[in-house]
Amino acid sequence: MQHSTIEKSIPLMAILTLIMVSIGGIVEIVPLFYIKSTIEKVEGMRPYTPLELKGRDIYIREGCYNCHSQMIRPFRDETERYGHYSLAAESMYDHPFQWGSKRTGPDLARIGGKYSNEWHKAHMFRPRDVVPESVMPGYPWLQKNELKADDIEKRMQVLSMVGVPYTAEQIANAKQDLAAQASATADSSGLTKRYGKKVPKGEFDGQADRITELDALVAYLQMLGTLVDFSGQQSKAR
Ligand code: HEC
Repeated sequence: MQHSTIEKSIPLMAILTLIMVSIGGIVEIVPLFYIKSTIEKVEGMRPYTPLELKGRDIYIREGCYNCHSQMIRPFRDETERYGHYSLAAESMYDHPFQWGSKRTGPDLARIGGKYSNEWHKAHMFRPRDVVPESVMPGYPWLQKNELKADDIEKRMQVLSMVGVPYTAEQIANAKQDLAAQASATADSSGLTKRYGKKVPKGEFDGQADRITELDALVAYLQMLGTLVDFSGQQSKAR
């Protein structure tokens, strides 16, 4: 058929265009129905511990995402400052994810281990005590408020409905694991067995006698970005 024939007939041109676009669409879309996940599995990822999960809830409640992103983009200026760029798998258990879209403060995707618990406690209480030029507001109530965790099993059950692989054992032991992680002295063998050896534990808020919202928030921050081991790949310029 002559090209000019197609170009002069609008219905013919439309039908042939539709056929071409459909072929392109099928090639792109159909494979997505046959692969189990678009996220590549990465070693080290685990569901958050009950204490970290509570800390994450507080992070959301206080609106930290309004000023902080949790997504290091694959650009040199970002990786030099924050470390290895974020992988999709690193937020696979986040519902909702905390990538954020605004950075009044720095990215927090790899904040875990950067500072001591004492630093976080002082910084959360009054940021200008440790960073004089800071414009971050203080959150002094976090170290006063007792952590309410009555609903922790329910929270974990709901997350498991949307795909977070919490086991029945992890859910049944949620309260014990939460208390064990927030203590420097408690027996944490169960916690280690269920979540691995790397789980940071201790008196995150510096108060041994009680578990506060600050315990949960700092436990969460100290875990961020530490689950996947990037050592031996790209050094963090810190
Ligand atoms: C109004 C914006 C704002 C809000 C809201 C905010 N921050 Fe910040 N944050 C900042 C700024 C600016 C800095 C950099 C100065 C500093 O370290 O205080 C910062 C720094 C930090 C740092 C240190 C980062 C680093 O790499 O040095 C942490 C951790 C942090 N914020 C946690 C939080 C948490 C947790 C919350 C919620 C409870 C929160 N921030 C809420 C603005 C904010």
